[in-house]
Amino acid sequence: MNGHFAIAIDGPSGAGKSTLARRAAKEFGFLYVDTGAIYRTVGLAAHRRGIDCHDEAAISALLPELEIRMGYNEAGEQRMFLNGEDVSSAIRAPEISICASDVSSLGAVRAFLLEMQRRTARESSVIMDGRDIGTVVLPEAELKIYLTASAEARAERRLKELEAKGVETSFDEVLRDIEYRDWQDTHREVAPLRRAEDAVLLDTSEIGLEESVALLCDTIHKRLQIGG
Ligand code: DC
Repeated sequence: MNGHFAIAIDGPSGAGKSTLARRAAKEFGFLYVDTGAIYRTVGLAAHRRGIDCHDEAAISALLPELEIRMGYNEAGEQRMFLNGEDVSSAIRAPEISICASDVSSLGAVRAFLLEMQRRTARESSVIMDGRDIGTVVLPEAELKIYLTASAEARAERRLKELEAKGVETSFDEVLRDIEYRDWQDTHREVAPLRRAEDAVLLDTSEIGLEESVALLCDTIHKRLQIGG
């Protein structure tokens, strides 16, 4: 891979992929790429135009009008730009999570975003997280991780995050959203979420954040013989 390492982290919504991947990227000096944010940006664009996120023809017609760019701020945080506008906060709204999951089922959207993700991995050593990174986007990644946790544990954590942001919701609503996305992400025809055969399974249902970060960093260190 042009002297670059690629680490693929896949798993269901709310398993803590982005938090853990960001921490590990910092630890090992890799670029962190949150591919969910890219799907969210497409979902946001469709939502703003009032397009039905299941309508592949309408979404396909929209794609050429979208200039999606990833940037990084001084803290190394990934920012998403949609036609020049920083949409990093807007893409986190709960209704955009659903739109992102809906548009990510569409083959046209996945094909449109594939090259952007691969190009990023050619240019830098990356820790890339998503649903199909180890299976489709970077099947040659030096290390693949499948990060998961029970739906209840994930809903509990997501509820706390939303409450901290002042979003009014309930455990049942958050669990329902997670189960909806799990079902859709694992049952879609194109690039469904599944564990690559050679992916290391990490289950964080029973462990806290710091323990999970340590487990991930230890796995990277042992498997790739780098850092730490
Ligand atoms: O990781 P996230 O919740 O930000 O992702 C938003 C949606 O995008 C999620 O429902 C599934 C989809 N997604 C995908 O299909 N493939 C990826 N590589 C990343 C995200």
